[in-house]
Amino acid sequence: MAIKAVKGVKDILPADIGKWRAVERAAREQFARFGFKEIVLPIFEKTEVFTKGVGEETDIVQKEMYTFEDRGGESITLRPEGTASCVRAFIEHSMFHPPGTVTKLFYMGPMFRRERPQAGRFRQFYQIGAELFGSAEPEADADAIHLLHLFITAIKIKGPKLMLNSLGCEECRPPFKAALVDYLGARKEHLCEACQGRWERNPLRVFDCKVEKCQDVMKDAPTIDKHYCPACAEHFSKVEKRLTLLNIPFTVNPRMVRGLDYYTRTVFEVTAEGLGAQNSIAGGGRYDNLVKSSGGPQVPATGFAVGMERLMESIGGELEMESGAPDVYIVFMEEAADEVCRIAGELRQSGIKVERAYKPAGIKNQMGKAGNSGARFALILGADEMAKKTAVIKDMKTGEQSAAPLDAVAADISKKLH
Ligand code: HAM
Repeated sequence: MAIKAVKGVKDILPADIGKWRAVERAAREQFARFGFKEIVLPIFEKTEVFTKGVGEETDIVQKEMYTFEDRGGESITLRPEGTASCVRAFIEHSMFHPPGTVTKLFYMGPMFRRERPQAGRFRQFYQIGAELFGSAEPEADADAIHLLHLFITAIKIKGPKLMLNSLGCEECRPPFKAALVDYLGARKEHLCEACQGRWERNPLRVFDCKVEKCQDVMKDAPTIDKHYCPACAEHFSKVEKRLTLLNIPFTVNPRMVRGLDYYTRTVFEVTAEGLGAQNSIAGGGRYDNLVKSSGGPQVPATGFAVGMERLMESIGGELEMESGAPDVYIVFMEEAADEVCRIAGELRQSGIKVERAYKPAGIKNQMGKAGNSGARFALILGADEMAKKTAVIKDMKTGEQSAAPLDAVAADISKKLH
């Protein structure tokens, strides 16, 4: 039996790479417009980067991390997300200097969560993430959301919906949590087993529980919007105003919480059509205390991440893709093998994409392959051509053929292509 990939991970095959790269290119274009610079972060970190960063009480830390002891006895974790790593790097490289600096970073790469695999939910998945450090202003939240909006518009995501909330701050969240704990305490026997175990420690998570009886309980639960302190209320209304000015449609959902504990104030999620239960293509928000709680100075921050696999599933139109087709397909007979080696070498050295057989089959068979490859030109070197020391260049679009002396073929094709 051949070995298969691990459950919940998948290969991105060459047939899908054109689309994948088009999505990455669109992201890079938007990042450039907003001044975000790329950072390449390690795939594994010391476990405490995530236990401290993402939060001990989250599902990610409690149940989903790939954690192991390496041979030196150190606890290592495959990153379940990028924000905590990015914060670690931000602090480690003192990117907060001089005070007041705004640092805008983006990253792309695999994340690992041992979730139950299902459509759109993987154990290794790819994120494109953006983190903006050094501004507590609502403008920074609006910029992050605007960037995300332009990106998903550029890649023609089907039916995107932006949901927005504010989770308040260390001043207004505790009284809200206390009200929620009171409410849940009076109804704890109606909660599912998981929520009975967490309502006191992490009451906000109950909003996210998919079990029907928990959802019933939460229908009348207190919501954060009634508890905002004046500063949080003002921040949120400014974010809403900016999004309206930018013509970005959104819905406020005071019951929306996030699966990571570091958020303060603005949080958001984007869903798309046609994805089934796992329809969240992006999530993010503000995290003003994470840099400090990770050992750095008090630096406010905001950001988001998109999930590549879900994006790929929800693209509703044609994207401009780089063609993987060769420029030239060389069709030849055995006696031309040396010439083919030389000409293919010359073409490739001058930057032209060449496809050729290593052992030639019949000319007809090779012409069929040249057609299927999508090549712009077929270069034909048969017995006749060898006798005449020429090659035939066939334009695969028009069918037009011309002959060129062997030593001028590469130059001739270069001219035709440029
Ligand atoms: P998140 O909401 O956990 O946020 O993940 C962001 C996106 O990653 C999701 O909307 C989804 O598209 C994708 N995703 C998450 N888990 C899976 C999975 N198991 N399989 C496939 N796709 C998945 C974060 O990770 C935060 N770090 C975002 C952030 C950045 N907040 C501030 N800055």
